[in-house]
This record gives sequence, structure tokens and C-alpha cells, in this order.
Amino acid sequence: MIVRPMSPFGAEIIGVDLDDPGALDGGVAQALRDAWVEHGILLFRHALHSEDAHLRLSRVFGDPQPSVVKRINEASNPYLMKLEQRPLDSSSETFALFEVDGQRRAGWLGWHWDQAFTAEIVRGALLRMIRPAAQDGRTGFIDAAQAYERLHPDLQRRIEGLEVVYHFTGDQEANRFGFPSSLRVVEHNPKRDAALVRYRGDFPPVVHPLVITQRETGRRILKLSPMHAQRILGMSDADSDALLHELAEHLTDARFAYFHTWQADDAIVWDNWRTIHCATGVPFDVDRFGQRTTIVGDYKLGRYLDAAQAPQGERRRLDD
Ligand SMILES: [Fe+2]
Repeated sequence: MIVRPMSPFGAEIIGVDLDDPGALDGGVAQALRDAWVEHGILLFRHALHSEDAHLRLSRVFGDPQPSVVKRINEASNPYLMKLEQRPLDSSSETFALFEVDGQRRAGWLGWHWDQAFTAEIVRGALLRMIRPAAQDGRTGFIDAAQAYERLHPDLQRRIEGLEVVYHFTGDQEANRFGFPSSLRVVEHNPKRDAALVRYRGDFPPVVHPLVITQRETGRRILKLSPMHAQRILGMSDADSDALLHELAEHLTDARFAYFHTWQADDAIVWDNWRTIHCATGVPFDVDRFGQRTTIVGDYKLGRYLDAAQAPQGERRRLDD
């Protein structure tokens, strides 16, 4: 197994035959986990050729779990989330057409970590591209540990101990920090708009620290998801907006991003506690299809803003 570092971060794994169920024995699984901790994202090119191999590789990094967003899980296997873009298919609840920097885009998603609107933050995710887009459709990744280390020491001191309030804002254009000001919805989908209002009610506001520590290394991480971020807890609106704008601009600086152009059966596993990601989307007439597993986990640093709103018993799921 070869671990080849990528620029500006991450690593490509070469020389592991993931179709072979025995390939992860003999210390290979542990070596992959170690590489994941060191590099934040791991890329496997043309390496995952089946759902079985996808689930097998996922288990190296933890237990897969169905997404909380039930409607996007495969009916045949809820542990696989569908990432599907069909040209001008407005029947889907997720259908939305955007214009970003003058370009028309379907499937565009701004910078985020997964499920920032929940108190538990999942450990990671493993995306396999099955039918890549003929044009664009890239996924971007940024290392928030590197982003923290690039902050001026004065700013590092200023943000120590601060907390951020998150609330579900599925409508991309409602995100205010680190999102392009040129973003607009070209065509509204009433089904989607109604669903977003419902989801916002399903997930009460949560609070997460602005800085966390990577347990294995002691590295500090700028733990900000531009998507869903509302305000800094206990700060005036003006000060909170100014600080979140500054931090989100810093964090999402594309010069420090790795953008992956997908080919069939490429796979990337990301550390959701340390990295953020985005989707550049595709032109309206381009389709693509991928599947994703979600790796369970809870870093136990998140909480509900109002403890009385915390779901009782089993965690509430969308569409329940
Ligand atoms: Fe995501």
C-alpha cells in the first residue's frame, strides 16, 4: 500500500485491491485509519466497483449509518445515500437550479461539514462516484486544521472558547457567511421550498464550539460550517456577523482547497470533524450519480441551544 500525499492536503491510496475482501487484513485497515488521521481525506482512484466493496471499505473507518435525511437513502439499502442529478428532473424534492458567478448550476452546494444542524457530528463519509458528470461536478475539500494554523495568533486567541449556533438552512441562498454573494435561485421548486420549512422545524438550533482539538494529534481545528451557521453565542449581532464573515472567508479560501474531478468508481473518504467540503454542481443538462455512506460518530461537543428541545429517546429523523 502506498500513501501518496496530495496538494494542498489529503492523500491518494495506491495498491490496495478493494474488490478483494481479504485486502484489508494484515494491518492494511489500521494503516488506512492512520493515514486518514494524518491526511484528513483519502482518495482511491477507479477502486470501488460494487456496493459490497463500498460498505466493506466504509467499515474500516467506523460503522456506517443511514443518513438522517431519509428521502435520499437507497430504498434497497438505507446505508447508501443517493447523490443523483438528472437533467431538469423537477419531480425531486431536492431539485433546485442555481446561478453562481454567472454560471447556471444544478446540484450546487456551498461549504459545510455534514449535519452541522444536529448536536451529534458524524465521524465521516465515503463517497463513490458511479456515473460521473460529463462536465464539472467537482467536490471541493478544505482542511480546517490547516485553516486554524493559518489564522493570526491574535485571532486564534480571540476565538478561543467561542461557540456557534447552527440552524438548518437547506435553502442555500439563506446562508450568509462564506457563500458567494452572486448566488441566486433560478427556478423555485414549491415542493422543495415546503420541505425546507418542515426540516427547519424538525431540527431545533444546536451549538458547537468554534475551535476543537484533533484527539489523536492535539492539532487545533477551526470548526466552522459556513452552511447552517447563524451566530456566535452571546455576542452582539454586529460583532457576530463581522467575526463569522471574517472566519468563513478565511476558511473557504479556494487557494487551500483540493477539488476532485471524478471518474467512474473513484472514492473519497473525508474526516467530517476536521474538513469541510462543497459541490460545484453541473450545468442544467448534465447528469451524474454517486452513492455515499455515512460513518457514525459523535464528538460529544455539540448540544441543543435549548435543552428542552432535545429529542427524547431515539434521535428524531427527517420524514418520521
Ligand atoms: Fe456534504
